[in-house]
Amino acid sequence: MSNQIWQDDGDKQRVRDASDIIRIIGEVVALKPKGREYAGLCPFHDDHNPSMAVVPHKQIFHCFVCGTGGDVFTFVRKFHKMEFREALEYLAQRAGIELKPRRREAVEPGQEGISRSQIHEANAVAAEFFKAIYNHAEHGRSARTIVEQRGISLAMVEKFGIGASPDRFDGLLMTIGKKRMDPRAFTEAGLLRTKLETGHMYDTFRNRLMFPISDMIGRTIAFGGRKIDEEDEPKYLNSPESRVFNKSATLFGLAQASRAIQVQRTAVITEGYTDTIACHQAGLENVVATLGTALTREHAVVLRRLCDRVVLLFDGDDAGQRAADRAAEIFFAEPIDVVVATLDKVTDAKDPDELLKREGGLEVLQKAIASGVDVLRYRFARVARSVEGGGIAVRSRAVEEEVARLADLGLSDVEPVRRRMIIRELARLADIGEETIARAIPVARGARRRPGAPPDTTASMNEGPATSITRLANGPLRTIEALLGCALCDPSLLATLDENARAILAPRRFETPDLQELAGAVLDALGTSASDLGSLLPMLATTEAQSAATILQARTDRETTSDPDRLRRHWTECLRQAHLESERAAPLASGADTDALLARIAQAAGRSQRFGGDLKVYPRPNGR
Ligand code: UTP
Ligand code: MN
Repeated sequence: MSNQIWQDDGDKQRVRDASDIIRIIGEVVALKPKGREYAGLCPFHDDHNPSMAVVPHKQIFHCFVCGTGGDVFTFVRKFHKMEFREALEYLAQRAGIELKPRRREAVEPGQEGISRSQIHEANAVAAEFFKAIYNHAEHGRSARTIVEQRGISLAMVEKFGIGASPDRFDGLLMTIGKKRMDPRAFTEAGLLRTKLETGHMYDTFRNRLMFPISDMIGRTIAFGGRKIDEEDEPKYLNSPESRVFNKSATLFGLAQASRAIQVQRTAVITEGYTDTIACHQAGLENVVATLGTALTREHAVVLRRLCDRVVLLFDGDDAGQRAADRAAEIFFAEPIDVVVATLDKVTDAKDPDELLKREGGLEVLQKAIASGVDVLRYRFARVARSVEGGGIAVRSRAVEEEVARLADLGLSDVEPVRRRMIIRELARLADIGEETIARAIPVARGARRRPGAPPDTTASMNEGPATSITRLANGPLRTIEALLGCALCDPSLLATLDENARAILAPRRFETPDLQELAGAVLDALGTSASDLGSLLPMLATTEAQSAATILQARTDRETTSDPDRLRRHWTECLRQAHLESERAAPLASGADTDALLARIAQAAGRSQRFGGDLKVYPRPNGR
């Protein structure tokens, strides 16, 4: 036993020495040099500003917001959800290091559950099998004919690992038997199915052109199988989701495209596998495809770590409209530009694949990509069309709804430049002043005003961190943050206020999601038995909010030297200050129409914050 540990340690050391942490992490998160270190978006929490530092001379990484850190093994294990041994093998293979032979596993196959790595292995074996069939003189002929007809080059067949499944029910099944592998792993991977009546297993994919779907580092996690025989249904058969295949977070071609996506800082998303392959063949290598589904926020999260611009390339404008609407919402609060490009404006070809087969098709496609429209402009243009010819009431109603919707989606977290664009567009839409709309947006993120300084929409549009942790610990506190700190030390203080006065701690008045969540929880806890920090913490969904609570409470306690009288005086003083500030922040009257509109917008925005605020507490990425 101890022998084994020593052996692994030796291997681990060698592999670590031979691995370059910048390269390994840099493949899945774009890293920018920053002094002697590199910075990137942390993949282990919902990061919007680069919070993860990678330190080459120490070969470590750490996130100063969520605290995740470690060496190259830690990163690979957490990010790719690998067991230690898998991570070791992956890194060893990348570094060209041969590991000492692994001791036979103590557990006989069949006695324990199927591991993730067994599912990976099943997919890898299947991919090899499908390639062998594809290259088989007889069994692969029809698949090769289709590939030739479609003009897919040999280079692309290799790059995408294209294969074929044989026209029989037990092709893969027999191979598994010969290799004496556990069929349950193949069943879990969706490669085998079981006939209910007889209990017999059979191949899922039969007589299909097989496109392996891989994760970011090129491990096959699923397959898309296109019919070869026109009679067959469906046209494309995909592997079901499994422990290694989350369809809504996966993009076809990402492993092949990720370098180009990083270099060009742009990803192009097409609608089909064959479109993606055709683009790569034509030299556009930053192209991927969704798996026949809509774009999700999980896709957005994967992409924003690699680039800062996404082009959604749609075949037709109808699908484009709908998908753009959705995409606008999904990408809205992400620090990434999204552009919609539709083919039918520039060509009658039905998709990129068809277009690229034509003379000069590449130029036309490039033109389409270059002339994409910002997804929000696209959306606002639609809103504008819907209110065309309407009076101010109609227009302001539309803007009101739009502001409420955008507030739900995290408008106050949007980067300043983009927020200004949004405000400008909305103002144009409703034909009212930009300041009016700017003021109606709840809690501009950077709205940290020096006490006494007048509210300034320009200044409030400047920088601001995604969470407040470091500032809460040591930096200057805003008045309402100090109040929150007091309430955390002594919840009975908050209970002395009437409902109107409590609105001073409304979540929307805080800048960052952690504080917004915390404020919401503190208000919710009023009048319940959750009266101290210990009982409040479990009510907080995110570790960020928990950290914020702990730090804020500790700081207030320290600054008031744990003296209840001092705490009360501090509370009263902050309250007075807060009321002064909110009076100053009250909007200046500027015309009756505008005032009424402003009131309604503020109301709508407040409403959506109250009921929709939780939308901003997004689920953590897997693995945390
Ligand atoms: P298309 O029907 O446009 O297919 O579906 P395609 O990519 O152009 O394929 P070819 O050129 O006819 O061979 C677009 C995408 O929708 C998904 C696939 O991901 C496909 O690439 N799809 C389509 C399915 O998942 N199932 C289907 O039955 C059809
Ligand atoms: Mn198509």
